Amino acid sequence: MRGILLAGGAGTRLKPLTLVASKQLLPVYNKPMIYYPLSLLMLAGIRETLIITTPEEQPRFRALLGDGSRWGLSLDYATQDQPRGIAEALLIGGDFARGEPLCLVLGDNILYGHDLTRLLRGAAGNRGATVFCHPVRDPQRYGVVELDGAGRPVSLVEKPKEPKSNLAVIGLYMLDGAAAAHAAAIRPSARGELEITDVLQRYLAAGELGVVELGRGFAWFDAGTPDSLLETAEFVRTVEHRQGLPIACLEEIAWRMGFIDRAQLQRLADELGGIEYGRYLPALLAQAR
Ligand code: DAU
Repeated sequence: MRGILLAGGAGTRLKPLTLVASKQLLPVYNKPMIYYPLSLLMLAGIRETLIITTPEEQPRFRALLGDGSRWGLSLDYATQDQPRGIAEALLIGGDFARGEPLCLVLGDNILYGHDLTRLLRGAAGNRGATVFCHPVRDPQRYGVVELDGAGRPVSLVEKPKEPKSNLAVIGLYMLDGAAAAHAAAIRPSARGELEITDVLQRYLAAGELGVVELGRGFAWFDAGTPDSLLETAEFVRTVEHRQGLPIACLEEIAWRMGFIDRAQLQRLADELGGIEYGRYLPALLAQAR
């Protein structure tokens, strides 16, 4: 399975923070925002990822992440010149995905919880499309899914005025090889965007949409507003301080997933030695003996 990480957009709700820097490069506590969605792809076992950014910002993403080889990844880059919708990522990434299953993740989505790795890896092999949903207080801001008594999706609506449930669809989508064809078949919405929800509705109509409900043991944030950016950072700080275990430490995940060996982890730990972010790696190396 390959990954597409969508990190374009204008970051309008975060202006002036986003006037000269992409939203997905802003700090979330002690690391750039994009580390978090990238870590989700890695936890799903994905090593080959296409990162889609605005043309202006691409050099900065390249400077930060490079070709990904330090983490045993293969990162490619593409651009989206206007924010024409999340589903456009499936068209831009069409050649990259080569009609194979893919995981699309939004660059401002941060997800944390027990057994996440198993859930992500479990969904990676599914037929059709699989989405994850989580209860929120303000479902009007999201794609909202309604489930029947057996947990099967009944309806799916983007930013409904009168939501049928409190379950928001998280910005991480497991899609089969038909995703690009579905994206090519939809038209822009009233807000002028190719909506990912319209793609998912096609899967729903075909009886090929699976929904995994994430309960209380999970925390999900989309860090697109000043409040959610700060709340997310506070959450990460609280968990990291209390547990002493980092969230979205790419070096750790690369090693645990077997993408890099102990010698490479040692090199990365040496590079990061002395800074807060890398503080945990020596303990990990001791464990790795
Ligand atoms: O966060 C989950 C929600 O994401 C879902 O529940 C919704 O169904 C889905 O439509 C999306 O809603 P948003 O209103 O939050 O999407 P937004 O326009 O904020 O875009 C999400 C991210 O994707 C954002 O970081 C910018 C990036 N993006 C967005 C668009 C429309 C792009 O890179 N290019 C785009 O064309």
